[in-house]
Amino acid sequence: MRIVLLGAPGSGKGTQAMILTGQKNVPHISTGDMLREAVSSGTRFGRKAKDIMEAGELVSDEIMLGIIAERLSQADAADGFILDGFPRTRQQAIDLDELLDQLGVPLDTAVLMDVDFDILMKRLTGRRTCSKTGKLLNIYFSSEEEIAECLNAGGELIHREDDNEETIGNRLNVYRENTEPVVEFYRKRDRLTMVDADGPIDVVYERLLDAIS
Ligand code: AP5
Repeated sequence: MRIVLLGAPGSGKGTQAMILTGQKNVPHISTGDMLREAVSSGTRFGRKAKDIMEAGELVSDEIMLGIIAERLSQADAADGFILDGFPRTRQQAIDLDELLDQLGVPLDTAVLMDVDFDILMKRLTGRRTCSKTGKLLNIYFSSEEEIAECLNAGGELIHREDDNEETIGNRLNVYRENTEPVVEFYRKRDRLTMVDADGPIDVVYERLLDAIS
């Protein structure tokens, strides 16, 4: 399975990719997670990326292509991958096609996680990540049991730096301007699959499985 998950911030790409990776045994490659790791490591690149991410802007296409080319050449991606957060610009989509051509592994499909923009703000301001398990949670939507499971394991609920209303507003604008053209890129090439991403997580997951089967 070689798929790209597209969708606005908060549409559930990471949530669904984490379930899918556990069941399909292909790596979940999230450029956002990779960049956040670079930020935590405090390297010069990480410090630069931090400012860009906190503003809700995009890291340059050239840098992102380098990161993704290196990651896709690793052994665990040889039999498939779930790309989450890449490509995010039309240029990145072109670069990804070229890269996959060189590797001789075509993309199966690009899946658009389709959700109304008006529910995204609540999903994003409420998002927390469990420091112990890495599970994505939400103070508005997760059950008490899920939250307790994290806290009882000694975890903390981490709030992402870019999940504040101002940055979220900019991330949504950046999505409209830069990433919606990527949706069109795949649609025009008959490689786009839509998934209704509004509804309970397990229901959305069933729709995703149907869409990629
Ligand atoms: P990234 O980490 O990729 O952020 P994003 O695209 O903004 O996406 P999110 O992680 O915010 O949302 P998601 O769709 O994964 O939703 P999630 O499943 O977490 O990128 C961060 C930054 O890095 C970018 O702004 C940019 O600066 C940089 N960057 C990354 N890639 C780049 C690239 N290729 N080029 C340039 N720059 C790049 O869900 C959100 C919340 O909703 C969670 O709390 C979850 O529990 C909840 N939820 C999920 N599904 C449901 C549901 N069905 N019902 C109720 N709640 C739900």
